[in-house]
Amino acid sequence: MINKLKIAMASDHVGYQMKKELQEYMQILGHDVQDLGPHDATRAEYPIYGRLAADKLAKGEYDRVVLICGTGFGISLAANSVSGVRCVNCTDAYTAYMSRLHNNSNAISFGARVIATENAKMILETWLSTEFEGGRHADRVDMLIEMSQFPEAGAYKASVSS
Ligand code: RB5
Repeated sequence: MINKLKIAMASDHVGYQMKKELQEYMQILGHDVQDLGPHDATRAEYPIYGRLAADKLAKGEYDRVVLICGTGFGISLAANSVSGVRCVNCTDAYTAYMSRLHNNSNAISFGARVIATENAKMILETWLSTEFEGGRHADRVDMLIEMSQFPEAGAYKASVSS
């Protein structure tokens, strides 16, 4: 029995094909998956689509976000520009697993020019089914959220005494 998640996907033109294959895979797993675009493989800018999905995630419209561009990195930068979004750019299941357990990652990105779609499917399955551990890790994630809301982060600088 899976925990059914509401998932948004987005990409650029390079990630379009992998996105459609991963969308189908997650639907077969039983999740509710929506593709926020682009809806064909003509040129599309990763900052625009990464940010679109991240804004909706931050507003609580989705549980998780899955993003794809050539490397996965550019689109992760767009997503991580939104406070409260923690996007992990992944090529391995261990990082995906730990990013859920310790960092409560709520978005993941893949590079369509970096890893095979079959590998991305295995990583995704781990990422979707792993719960955040909470506890001391929750305190650290709260620090990240607060820093992103108050970029001067004076309180944190002061608390790291030499
Ligand atoms: C597009 O050429 C490429 O720059 C993009 O897909 C992505 O890899 C950026 O980070």
